Amino acid sequence: MNVIAFASRKGGTGKSTLAAHLAVQATMAHRSVLLIDADPQGSLSLWHEIRGKEQPALRRATRGTQEAVKSAAREGHEWAFIDTPPNLSASVSDAIRLATLVLIPCRASVFDLTAIVETIDLCRKLNRPYSVIFNAVPSKRSDAEAAIVSDARHGLTAIKAPVWSGQITHRADYCFALGAGAGAREFGPDATAANEISRLWSVIERSVKAINEPANPRTLGKQASPRSAVVHQSSGPQAAGGEHGRKRLPTPAVDERT
Ligand SMILES: Nc1ncnc2c1ncn2[C@@H]1O[C@H](COP(=O)(O)OP(=O)(O)OP(=O)(O)O)[C@@H](O)[C@H]1O
Ligand SMILES: [Mg+2]
Repeated sequence: MNVIAFASRKGGTGKSTLAAHLAVQATMAHRSVLLIDADPQGSLSLWHEIRGKEQPALRRATRGTQEAVKSAAREGHEWAFIDTPPNLSASVSDAIRLATLVLIPCRASVFDLTAIVETIDLCRKLNRPYSVIFNAVPSKRSDAEAAIVSDARHGLTAIKAPVWSGQITHRADYCFALGAGAGAREFGPDATAANEISRLWSVIERSVKAINEPANPRTLGKQASPRSAVVHQSSGPQAAGGEHGRKRLPTPAVDERT
């Protein structure tokens, strides 16, 4: 089973929002997903209640994140998405430790960038692959990202943090959809929001596949080639272990450059 942890020490960066939209996206692609709400605020649980549907399934991590992940695996889910609170508590560490890949949503502001460094450090300390996802950022103009996003990207690159090359734009559709208990794909299948979520989901799947591949030199060499890479593999201080720390792989940045 693949475990995605949504983590960020900063509040309001979009952890619950991305977890909900991506879970719907994955469910519609016939993946079996369990959402684990490890945040006492219960935002994801509220969305699920409004939704009133069985899929994707949701469980509150009342008996701990580890127990919830174990039962998700026992029940045969392919994916577990863990939504965590905006802090560095034990439950966040547990989620990161259990994650195949940690997604760190981040707005492009100095407050957000400063705060997520602590989450990045925690991923590095726990040796887990992670990627920063720009969320709720200004829209692109003629395919060029806003200056504030480029600046933020440069800042993160300077500390060798893997960052998704795309972005989730600030769009009312994301909020309207959540209020209706829906995901972007259900709310407006042809809308730009749905396309952004779809692109993010497909690079997550490819990144996780790369993480789970045996760490043999041929495979890594192939992935590292700029032409054939489905995920950008970067080494450096953030080099992380593979699943359960058995394998050693460079941290994959969720990246759609091919
Ligand atoms: N891409 C987006 N476009 C517009 N609004 C967004 C976007 N992402 C998140 N929001 C809004 O920002 C607010 C915070 O989002 P969300 O609750 O998902 O963040 P969070 O990181 O889970 O917060 P917390 O740390 O408090 O759990 C919500 O009102 C949500 O609807
Ligand atoms: Mg939340």
